[in-house]
Amino acid sequence: MKLNTLQLENYRNYESIYLDCHPEVNILIGENAQGKTNLLESIYVLALAKSHRTSNDKELIRFKSDYAKIEGGLSYRHGKMPLTMLITKKGKQVKVNHLEQSKLTQYVGHLNVVLFAPEDLSIVKGAPQIRRRFIDMELGQISAVYLNDLAQYQRILKQKNNYLKQLQYGDKTDSTMLEVLNQQFAEYALKVTLRRAHFINELEALAQPIHSGITDERERLNLKYLPSLKLNDLSKDQSVLLEEVLETLDKNMEREKERGVCLFGPHRDDLGFNVNDMDAQTYGSQGQQRTTALSIKLAEIELMKQEVGEYPILLLDDVLSELDDSRQSHLLSTIQHKVQTFVTTTSVDGIDHEIMSNAKLYRINQGEITK
Ligand SMILES: Nc1ncnc2c1ncn2[C@@H]1O[C@H](COP(=O)(O)OP(=O)(O)O)[C@@H](O)[C@H]1O
Ligand SMILES: [Mg+2]
Repeated sequence: MKLNTLQLENYRNYESIYLDCHPEVNILIGENAQGKTNLLESIYVLALAKSHRTSNDKELIRFKSDYAKIEGGLSYRHGKMPLTMLITKKGKQVKVNHLEQSKLTQYVGHLNVVLFAPEDLSIVKGAPQIRRRFIDMELGQISAVYLNDLAQYQRILKQKNNYLKQLQYGDKTDSTMLEVLNQQFAEYALKVTLRRAHFINELEALAQPIHSGITDERERLNLKYLPSLKLNDLSKDQSVLLEEVLETLDKNMEREKERGVCLFGPHRDDLGFNVNDMDAQTYGSQGQQRTTALSIKLAEIELMKQEVGEYPILLLDDVLSELDDSRQSHLLSTIQHKVQTFVTTTSVDGIDHEIMSNAKLYRINQGEITK
């Protein structure tokens, strides 16, 4: 898919801009704090109905404005379609092809993006939260069912956490409600866990040849989903797994009451990376960790194509200059003529000329854009 046009009104530091996008590479050049990331963020928000930088939508509205508006003109292999998002202080309104959508879970998925930002370079080494966000960002775009299950899980998680707090502070003493909550909790925790684990298996299959290619066959990459619920064999029958989840929750009920928080579930899960059978998080060199980050991002693009039938749009925020020549050329050969890309950078030095020669350049200066 391609983003042909992008229009912003009162979005962050943009008052009003209209962009005609290049179908291949769009390079956004500017000094720091001019609005480069804001622009990529607006495309991300148009795709996922939430920002990667904040959970508070009000921050997206330009200072002293009442609303922010993002409009994208998209084209797919089978036609064109506009997507519109209006963000007000009361909430969001989304339209697909001019038709208002009442559910965000129905809206998300029309525009697919893969974002590669500096924090993703630390996906191997950084906090587990980065790895969970990576999974949710991809899965949420390709599966409305997943997005819905995740939302249900988060709702029950919040409820259970509140209840545990009340028990801890003695506001409540009866824990029968906790058993009822655990039933619902277990059901959605298992759905989310299984879907994520399946996704990681699919991603691994795509990332392995990419990783071998980048390292001239010197390194073999393995991915492993690590559920906090300690389910050791996810291929078992679902009803059996559900019993196992309930058992774990039951066994740990006293501990959770003491601590006042949910200690098990997808919100505590992690993803492990092995390079040549050693744990890359603990033992990997910085180079190996970077290669791993690149491999899984490239695999993410391929997986989306496999699931959706079209390539997503790639958003590269300040990472291109962080990658050396050989990693850049791998990136290039994967995206060339297939994946529309938006790149931000403070300088074009150190960016592959081949990328440059096929690109449209925009200069960004305090929320104004010139070609
Ligand atoms: N809601 C907002 N209204 C107006 N300006 C904003 C808003 N949010 C952020 N900004 C401004 O955007 C700028 C940062 O833009 P950003 O895209 O992160 O910069 P960079 O070009 O370095 O990526 C800052 O100057 C900040 O003050
Ligand atoms: Mg930035």
